[in-house]
Amino acid sequence: MREVVLNDPLDFEGWRDAARRLRLAGVEPAHVRFRAGGGQGGLFDRGDALPDVEGGFTAPQGFMACAAQLIQHRSEDRFDLMYRLLWRLKDQPDLMAVLSDVDVAEAADRVKGVRRAAHKMKAFVRFRQAEDAAGQHWVAWFEPPHRVLRATAPFFVRRFSAMRWSILTPDGSARWDGEALTHGPPAEQTQAPREDEMEDFWRTYYASTFNPARLRPKAMRSEMPVQYWKNLPEAELIPELMAAAAVRTEAMVNRTATDPNARFQRARAPAIDRTPTDELAPDTLEELGRGVQGCRRCPLWRDATQGVCGEGPRTAALMIVGEQPGDQEDLSGRPFVGPAGRLLDKALGETGLDRSALYLTNAVKHFKHEPRGKRRLHRTPDAGEVKACRWWLDHERRLVQPRLILALGATAGLALLGRKPAVQTERGRIMTMPDGARILLTVHPAYLLRLPDAEARAREQARFREDLRAADAAL
Ligand code: URA
Repeated sequence: MREVVLNDPLDFEGWRDAARRLRLAGVEPAHVRFRAGGGQGGLFDRGDALPDVEGGFTAPQGFMACAAQLIQHRSEDRFDLMYRLLWRLKDQPDLMAVLSDVDVAEAADRVKGVRRAAHKMKAFVRFRQAEDAAGQHWVAWFEPPHRVLRATAPFFVRRFSAMRWSILTPDGSARWDGEALTHGPPAEQTQAPREDEMEDFWRTYYASTFNPARLRPKAMRSEMPVQYWKNLPEAELIPELMAAAAVRTEAMVNRTATDPNARFQRARAPAIDRTPTDELAPDTLEELGRGVQGCRRCPLWRDATQGVCGEGPRTAALMIVGEQPGDQEDLSGRPFVGPAGRLLDKALGETGLDRSALYLTNAVKHFKHEPRGKRRLHRTPDAGEVKACRWWLDHERRLVQPRLILALGATAGLALLGRKPAVQTERGRIMTMPDGARILLTVHPAYLLRLPDAEARAREQARFREDLRAADAAL
């Protein structure tokens, strides 16, 4: 029996080189045993000499990928299993696809265990705050059932790239200093900090997400295996929460029903005016305003506080069309009252146009946004939403009959022209719509607010005022 001693338990290169030589020299798996040495390469820890052979061969990719995971398994004989498979692949190149084969099934089972261990590591590593010479440093102690640290560490680099951290395990340690990932020797639990205020955070979080009515102890043990509990701060709550589950469930069942939240109620509200037809065409702007509140032509009403209709005299000569209400417009129910509206007001004042004589409205009547923390971030309405809302804009135009429409930005342009205009090249000149209405396009004031440097802002604001003057002159 020949004994091959590898440098360390994850010495894939060493195994590969030895396996290549042994297979080329015709050494059968039954005549060789692999083992991992202590990593010192000491005189008495070298094993038998390997055959001196020339050349090589290519192992199937599927096998190499499987072997790279198999080596992380904690079983002593994993190298032997890897070599047995490599040897058998010589006569049976598609062996890895034969799932009923004893060696292939064994390898698949161990790879599954390794993958599961890596998955649990990603879920259950808990960093605790520590301090070193360079400042704040996060340290986690973890005991994976297989040697998954090396292969899983890049996941933590991606996830916590801005923190300096170390993960200590009985097999080795990984350290990220904000720039480079390094691997070090095995560690002991005493080297990791024990308690910090993050523990309370995890405990509170876990207790608040624990639903006693959904308690399924078996599934819970499989998802959060008991072997990991000892290093999870929140795990100490589990026995207590499980014991109290029955009582809490009964209390939940007996509690009287509460009202669903407002958004849910709105989503269940009966649809009104799903497809308004021309018989429902509003006769007045007030009627139009009420209709917009019940509009279900697109889903934007669900997340908005209210629909925001146009505002201004029914006889206005100039109609200004923006994109959609913003955060402040959505809350107040009036168009152009937020930052973009203030900039528009200022520019109107500077060009001698009186806001109270104009009709101001939007291409889309509900605020499209997405939540980001406590803020609601504007999202541009898509072509379908613009098209759905055009019914209201057309009726506003029919009721007001402006002599000129000033379209602010691409969305207003799309709603009125039926195509997305190139704002910068088409701005400032009178265009005629298929129904004979006259339209002048310019940029949206929000664009002016977003310009980063003062010089560009001043230049663009002057151009915006020129476009407003052109509109005034065309009236
Ligand atoms: N932007 C718009 O397009 N319309 C508003 O009403 C406010 C901001």
